[in-house]
Amino acid sequence: MPEDQMPEALAAASSSLADLPRLVAPAPDPATIDWPDTVTVTHVAHWTDRLFSFRTTRPRSLRFRSGEFVMIGLMGEPDPQTGKRRPLLRAYSIASPDWDDELEFYSIKVQDGPLTSRLQHIRPGDEIILKPKPVGTLVHDALLPGKRLWFFATGTGIAPYASLIREPQTYHDYDQVILTHTCREVAELEYGRRLVDEVRRDEVLAELIGEGFADKLLYYPTTTREESPRMGRITTLLEDGTVFRDLGIEGGLSRETDRAMVCGSLPFNLDMKAFLEGHGLREGANSEPAEYVVEKAFVG
Ligand code: A2P
Repeated sequence: MPEDQMPEALAAASSSLADLPRLVAPAPDPATIDWPDTVTVTHVAHWTDRLFSFRTTRPRSLRFRSGEFVMIGLMGEPDPQTGKRRPLLRAYSIASPDWDDELEFYSIKVQDGPLTSRLQHIRPGDEIILKPKPVGTLVHDALLPGKRLWFFATGTGIAPYASLIREPQTYHDYDQVILTHTCREVAELEYGRRLVDEVRRDEVLAELIGEGFADKLLYYPTTTREESPRMGRITTLLEDGTVFRDLGIEGGLSRETDRAMVCGSLPFNLDMKAFLEGHGLREGANSEPAEYVVEKAFVG
């Protein structure tokens, strides 16, 4: 089956499945698989030739905590020996908040990537696979109470924060919320910049959280390889104190007041861990909350 027809095929299959009574299993077809859960694409936005975001329908039964991720994907190509197709899935942070009727995702496009080389061509109406088992450590439950919450991201690592900056609990729990986003080039910041802008003007959020909630949100974008108003790796700008000076924060980070979430490439995560631990913050988990949590930005 040509690749570009895959989503339509999935759509047809899943809608005919949906018509069957739940307890009547379709006859297994060895050339396929157990039919996976699917959702329908409702909106696609291309930000650069390497970045895009999309929205999908949300299964009614899907509950998640803002900041968690799920496995999503498409059917793979048939196995040359058996003809069997398997789902090709990757972990994606849900970029929308828990209260949203739809789901949002933010993705890189890798031209020879097994999944994203195809996923980048999805259009509204197409179906994608979504395994409805959300998990993750970038959640409020994994942090002890604090005063200031830092969201540190590089690249597509901003996705879980796109969820969390639209989550009322973020503003109820903290006096100040700081989103830092470091990318190579200015255009790669656009998804985050637009999002912060929308959050600040969002009347529904203001109603849910309270007028003036957005005053708590500080946004700190930086680039490393293209000129912009703020340049440099966030790690460097933290170490030399620039971030604190720019944001008017006295005394730097402390275990008493500061909580942090970290999401980016592995080297970035390791450097941030070292920085945060150097300031006395300890890594938390769902089972044992502490002062910071970290997760790799999976699709990159
Ligand atoms: P740099 O351009 O100096 O490598 P990538 O596209 O490679 O995932 O990187 C995304 C952004 O994260 C880039 O701006 C990159 O800066 C920055 N970055 C990469 N590694 C680190 C690190 N170890 N610490 C801080 N920033 C990093």
